[in-house]
Amino acid sequence: MTEVIRMTTTETAGAAPKHGAAPDRTADERPVKIETRKLSKLFGPRPERAIEHIRSGGSKQEAQERFGVAIGCFEVDLKIHAGETFVLMGLSGSGKSTLLRLLNRLHEPSSGQVLIDGEDVTKLNKQELLRVRREKFSGMVFQQFAILPHRTVLDNVGYGLEVQGASRSELRERSMRAIELVGLNGWENNLPAQLSGGMQQRVGLARALAVDADVLLMDEAFSALDPLIRREMQDELLELQSRMGKTIVFVTHDLDEALRLGDRIAIMKDGEVVQVGTAEEIITKPSDAYVEAFVEGIDRTEVLTASSIMQPVKETAHVRDGPRTVLTKIRRYGLSGILVVDSDRTLKGFLPAEAVIEQLEDDAASRDRIEEKRIVPASSVQTTIALQEVIAHSTDATGPIAVVDDAGKLRGVIVKGAILAALVRGGEAAVADRPGRAVGGEGAHDGAAAGEGAS
Ligand SMILES: Nc1ncnc2c1ncn2[C@@H]1O[C@H](COP(=O)(O)OP(=O)(O)O)[C@@H](O)[C@H]1O
Ligand SMILES: [Mg+2]
Repeated sequence: MTEVIRMTTTETAGAAPKHGAAPDRTADERPVKIETRKLSKLFGPRPERAIEHIRSGGSKQEAQERFGVAIGCFEVDLKIHAGETFVLMGLSGSGKSTLLRLLNRLHEPSSGQVLIDGEDVTKLNKQELLRVRREKFSGMVFQQFAILPHRTVLDNVGYGLEVQGASRSELRERSMRAIELVGLNGWENNLPAQLSGGMQQRVGLARALAVDADVLLMDEAFSALDPLIRREMQDELLELQSRMGKTIVFVTHDLDEALRLGDRIAIMKDGEVVQVGTAEEIITKPSDAYVEAFVEGIDRTEVLTASSIMQPVKETAHVRDGPRTVLTKIRRYGLSGILVVDSDRTLKGFLPAEAVIEQLEDDAASRDRIEEKRIVPASSVQTTIALQEVIAHSTDATGPIAVVDDAGKLRGVIVKGAILAALVRGGEAAVADRPGRAVGGEGAHDGAAAGEGAS
């Protein structure tokens, strides 16, 4: 199965433009960035007695009652690869935050090890630990991060650097870069109270990014946001990640969020990791009833999005093209028509081949420009639309389905063959949504440019 995914990724890589270096989903060849070995955290006195009790076959429940401890996480073995977005998912109380905090030793482990780039951080003294934190970890991004109300956006973003002792000019430069990354430029001199909730969360993200270390830890960072803004932040994180290639450990109790963001997902239950896998592996092969219950309601047509099955548009007509030029473009690819865009690639509509021919046959018609009246509305969907909605759309679409971004710019095109391919191969080759990650195998290769061919 791993092979299948990799082959598909390579095959489509040539055909689809990638937005930056989207990490390989399987991630296997990349170096291990974070490793945990039998990592446990029990809260309460003398946790080792309780650990021993469980190891020798006692139940956790019993151990908690008899020894007065709370089990945060128990004997977790994980390998997280460099550049991977790794999600810890599970019900409230399943140990996600505890595990996350163990990674940079915000919690001291009760037993077991944490290795960062092969270095066992559980053995470090205070000073060495500070060095590792500074070099390897950007700050944590929490649901409620500590925004400082009397500081400007710039000084909030620079806070992590300030703590590290960065100079004023360095602080400014790096903070501004992070502010730009999260799209808050122009707001740097505002106070947090002047920002919306979503924007405040961006400040938190920017603060972590300003530190610019390899590992970013995020604990329910988007959970308090309303659904639309939350989705927007998820998209933004994906987009940022495709450019930054950081190692992100992201905690959420929300499966949809996990599926959207995670290259791999670890499902936690009662302090243990019960399954690790890609979104697809989790959906198609849940390891036990607990995971099954989680993914039961998940429909792969919800997991896949338009951007994951779209193809690049090979040819478009420009609003200023003449009818002959357009007809040549249409014929070159044997299309039934062509998508029309203006100079900044904003989608204007669809031009059926017959309409162009009609214009050419009409003696009174313009020879210089495509006439506006010949252009019909194009079927279009947004990049983030779920496959499900694309399908609903496709039943009444005659031409290709254009895929546009928030700004209405043409990003790709979906041909019906690709939809079918994604559904049929659902269990094997479908890859969850990533910017620019095309799926579709054979389906993606025929149908050529901006349409379904003349067929
Ligand atoms: N500081 C603490 N003291 C005592 N028990 C704790 C502490 N932090 C977490 N726990 C317990 O550890 C378990 C896991 O908690 P947590 O890691 O916060 O879960 P999650 O983040 O998945 O909701 C829970 O039973 C919780 O009550
Ligand atoms: Mg938590």
